[in-house]
Amino acid sequence: MLRNRLSLFIAIGTIILSSCQKNSSPTSVIGPLGDSAMVASAHPLSTQIGLQVLREGGNAFDAAVATHFALAVVYPRAGNVGGGGFALYRMKDGEIGSLDFREKAPARASRDMFLDEQGNIVDRLSIIGHKAAGVPGSVDGILKLYDQFGTKSLRELLAPAIDLATSGYAITQDQADEYNAKRDDFIQVNGPDFFLVKNEPWQEGDTVKYTELAGTLALIRDQGRSGFYEGIVADQIVKEMESGGGLISLDDLSGYSSKWRDPIVGNYRGYKVISMPPPSSGGVALLQLLQGSEKYDIPAMGHNTPETIHILTELERRVYADRATHLGDPDYYDVPVQMLLDPAYNKKRFSTIQKDKKTDSQDVKEGEVDIIESVQTTHFSIVDTYGNAVAITTTLNSYFGCKVYVDGAGFFLNNEMDDFSSKPGVPNQFGLIGDDANAIVPNKRMLSSMTPTIVEKDGNLKMVLGTPGGSTIITSVFQTIMNVVDHEMGMQEAVNANRTHSQWLPDRILIEERWTDGETIKKLEQLGHVIEYRKALGKMDCILLRADSTLEGGADYTRGDNYAEGF
Ligand code: DON
Repeated sequence: MLRNRLSLFIAIGTIILSSCQKNSSPTSVIGPLGDSAMVASAHPLSTQIGLQVLREGGNAFDAAVATHFALAVVYPRAGNVGGGGFALYRMKDGEIGSLDFREKAPARASRDMFLDEQGNIVDRLSIIGHKAAGVPGSVDGILKLYDQFGTKSLRELLAPAIDLATSGYAITQDQADEYNAKRDDFIQVNGPDFFLVKNEPWQEGDTVKYTELAGTLALIRDQGRSGFYEGIVADQIVKEMESGGGLISLDDLSGYSSKWRDPIVGNYRGYKVISMPPPSSGGVALLQLLQGSEKYDIPAMGHNTPETIHILTELERRVYADRATHLGDPDYYDVPVQMLLDPAYNKKRFSTIQKDKKTDSQDVKEGEVDIIESVQTTHFSIVDTYGNAVAITTTLNSYFGCKVYVDGAGFFLNNEMDDFSSKPGVPNQFGLIGDDANAIVPNKRMLSSMTPTIVEKDGNLKMVLGTPGGSTIITSVFQTIMNVVDHEMGMQEAVNANRTHSQWLPDRILIEERWTDGETIKKLEQLGHVIEYRKALGKMDCILLRADSTLEGGADYTRGDNYAEGF
């Protein structure tokens, strides 16, 4: 039945893509509303596919399976089967849990694998090409969630993604721009005959088909995880690795297993905040930031005023310095989570913050960094008619990962190896540095910033949040929570609001280009801050349970193709 209806709403979806995605102007602050269910994701088609599952009685986990595999087709720069991620959930009865399906270093990886004989980083080796790929975790993770909580058949849940991959869909302007921007990389890694390389530039409305991917998805549908980690697809991945000096082996694939982990839980001004534990740094860093900001009267200081931005920047400086030193895969490194979340520790950590003067990052801890390229990940949030909530962030790391498209299997592999610290003190593409805690070790998971988060108030679900953005993920989630809690915004308004980002090193504040308030920037500069501009920070996909018990979606349609819808 789902399949029959699908063609109808793909057609509708194609129309919606060009019209309803801008369903309100940035100044109109109420997002889409729903009485009982909502999906927010990076693309209208993936949102509508998830929503259809909910309409037909599926729960949030069923919808997550359908949405995730749809994103692999309609948002291939980040949606994936060749990447990894994290899932956080809250059941209707309040039970919470999280699943870590982060990629792992291949068994043949080694600490210095991205260094030359002089011990220097080999330019872009951890970013582009076969060696950059970690062992993918997404298929194992999404299917583990499904095995535990799903109610519909995989046949039903994967049908929309398979149909879209087979029949194709019209790309958006944003997608056309991306394909055009990555043309040279595609040719470098996959050759001039690669199907996403054309002589004419891609344009909005062009149709793209992912027929090989449809075959891989059908194997996953029919055989579950072994349809990906064993058999034809595993052979295709290993063959691809052998053709380009990659390290992933058949044993790495068959041995991959995602892990249930206890979420990180804390409080912020009477709200309970539930987020992702290591190997993501997201939950720990978010709660440290919230502990710090709770000591200031942020509502009185005001939204995006110089005073507030200054304090957030000073908190972020200290928290990202902690991240660089202390965070890594807890299976390989003793991460001091308790210490970092101890109010006494944080009180002392933040005690050097001055209201009228910036701290020099070099005085917090040493390091030299620079950010190389902009990147992609994707997050979706779902609330079902039963009251269950799911927040899932997955990634290939950079746009289209390491750009290697597995021949025959039809998908991009991640370049997550760049999230390790290849050399102590030398930055990765997000400018993040690290040390032993995040050094490369065979089978270890690389540190992440992904921050799927759920917020409760008085024992009830309040918000579901998350975003891509590399190191800016944590600060985007942080500000969006504060926008609702401290500045009394609705979900869409909180998502639309301008964001800033800072992270200890480089010692600067990133501000979105659309920022027009020159006075604020002048005052920040007077406090000693260096300002740099970025096109956009994050692409949030969030849901808020409003006081009248309706759900409000907040999808970042002013920054991307993101789209929320409810019923
Ligand atoms: O796990 C991480 O923190 C990164 N690999 C996420 C990359 C990302 O968000 C890129 N997006 N814009």
